[in-house]
Amino acid sequence: MTTFVHISDLHFGRILTDVLAGLKQKIKSIKPDMIIISGDLTQRATKKEYQQAADFLNDINTPYFIIPGNHDLSTFRIIERFFWPWRKWHKWVQRELEAQYANDNYQLIGINTARKAGFYMDWSRGRISSTQIKHITKQVMEAPEYQLQLLVAHHPFWLPREYEARHLIGGRDKALASFKDTGLDLILSGHVHVDYCRVVDGIIVSHAGTTTSDRLLPEHANSFNIIRGDKSTLTIARHHWHQDEFQLSATQTFYRDNGGWHEQ
Ligand SMILES: [Fe+2]
Ligand SMILES: [Fe+2]
Repeated sequence: MTTFVHISDLHFGRILTDVLAGLKQKIKSIKPDMIIISGDLTQRATKKEYQQAADFLNDINTPYFIIPGNHDLSTFRIIERFFWPWRKWHKWVQRELEAQYANDNYQLIGINTARKAGFYMDWSRGRISSTQIKHITKQVMEAPEYQLQLLVAHHPFWLPREYEARHLIGGRDKALASFKDTGLDLILSGHVHVDYCRVVDGIIVSHAGTTTSDRLLPEHANSFNIIRGDKSTLTIARHHWHQDEFQLSATQTFYRDNGGWHEQ
């Protein structure tokens, strides 16, 4: 059985320091096999924010798997955005934008869904390309049947209706059609600062909200998830910041049957 801690949208530059300390404490007591961080590590992609984020990554003393979000690109330094958009990421975080990791129990496929520009005014929007879809589909289909398959992408593949119009990832329908029945088990995302998890086309789509920042939506506290299990059963324990600490607020259990996931 594997234990993952899924955190997202830390947004260094807009950190709530007591919440960050509470998260570190939780990580120490949970001792996860892997921490998954689904993008928006910084707020404005400044050097200072990247330095603070790098300190956090060093401090946690736990293996982590990370991909970037739209906030990890500079919005205001346009020359930087167009000519060397990921220079700070490479310097302070890691070489890869699309990390991959596999062991006997699970495979993590990370993709970068943030784009430096698009044919629309809102550059916070993300997309998944045909090349990325093909790559993920191939990776998952070639993997051993017993190995849990997780895709980590910043932008969401499913959203409650009120958030759909602005935030849903471009290319979603094509991606989900391609992933169906391949053996992909989970898609982990962030971006909307809203947490939830549910089954979509036999795949578990699970979100953490903003784990440590003050960029909170009304009625949504800071949050993270603990994901435990294997290829046959998974539990997702959603934690929220409440009364000065992260507290468990809901546990969802999923089982795999006929090649797809179902919620118990
Ligand atoms: Fe965010
Ligand atoms: Fe985002």
